Amino acid sequence: MQSSSNSNQPKGRRSSLRNRSVQFGLMAAFFLFVVGCSKDGQSTWEAFGPVAQKQLDLFNVLLWVMVAVFIIVEGVLVYAIVRYRRRPGDEKPPQIHGNTSLEIILTIIPTILVLGLGIWSVFTLFEIDEPPEGGPDPLQVNVIGHQWWFEFEYPDAGNGKKIITANEMRIPVDRPITISLESDDVIHSFWVPKLAGKLDMVPTHVNKMWFQADSDKITEDLPVTLYGQCAELCGLSHALMRFRVTVMEQDDFDSWAAAYGPPPAVSDKAKAGKELFGKNCSTCHTIDGPDDPAQSANRLTGFMTAGDITAVPAPNLTDLRTRQTLGAGITDLTEETLQDWIRNPEDFKPGNYMSERSVLYQNGPASLTDDEIDSLIGYLLDLR
Ligand code: CUA
Repeated sequence: MQSSSNSNQPKGRRSSLRNRSVQFGLMAAFFLFVVGCSKDGQSTWEAFGPVAQKQLDLFNVLLWVMVAVFIIVEGVLVYAIVRYRRRPGDEKPPQIHGNTSLEIILTIIPTILVLGLGIWSVFTLFEIDEPPEGGPDPLQVNVIGHQWWFEFEYPDAGNGKKIITANEMRIPVDRPITISLESDDVIHSFWVPKLAGKLDMVPTHVNKMWFQADSDKITEDLPVTLYGQCAELCGLSHALMRFRVTVMEQDDFDSWAAAYGPPPAVSDKAKAGKELFGKNCSTCHTIDGPDDPAQSANRLTGFMTAGDITAVPAPNLTDLRTRQTLGAGITDLTEETLQDWIRNPEDFKPGNYMSERSVLYQNGPASLTDDEIDSLIGYLLDLR
């Protein structure tokens, strides 16, 4: 029935439909081309360090060799189709089978290409495996993936100071950053496209990588913010699991590390907030420095054994007042957004464990008055 009604369509309408499809196709292709060329945000086409640069070089070689192969093969194919197509009155052409020298050539060329590109790839892998020796001292950062946020642990951020923070990684420029990746729940993937390729964060297994941001590759003034995100489907809010990397001068990094510590509760508002925090939030969030390992272990056990209301691993909030974003990079951190977040995190991040497991949210939005939320914010953002 449908085909007969289609064939009844006036010719003009069908051709205008075809025109529109062609226009749409061209626009989509142009849009993809423009997006593909964009160097903003998360682009692998703009390398800010040696690891990303080596990966980009390898990618370019692979890409252009394959483009050349594609054009040559398709060119010969199209030429043969057009030039030797059957014409009216043509006799059946002579039937041939096999051509030894052609077959040898067509075996040798791809073998050389595949071997060459394969060997280059393996050498690149070895080259970017570890920071070059004799360079500046690497800074170690342990990154732990959680549904749906990133935890960053600096065992020694300088002068032996241990730092644990969340969703925003600060790194000094021109210094190798050695990274250990792990997960507390499911498989995540750590990716800062301008610094290095992605690597999985796997529970009970540590994956290692490193990267470096080079000052001679970054044209803007420091500090510069780079964007990263989880690159492995890890549950409901996977797309909302982002993070930022701030590249800073070593001096600025040192100042940040030195200032890392509990927020001072000076105003009356902040004092009330501190008390509220202690009663309602400190089961899961730490705010006075790096998390205590025993407490972290308890939170993880609580999470794994899963009561309805229980302690779970949650972002360390110690340096919240120095951060740019909220909820793992999904919105800017301001008093207003933090207010909205505390009132109902489910609006921002569906499925988050704060809404699910905290006693405050068992009936939906937070069972806190506006004044209480205000005082909490006063405490959390005191120094901003
Ligand atoms: Cu974590 Cu996707």
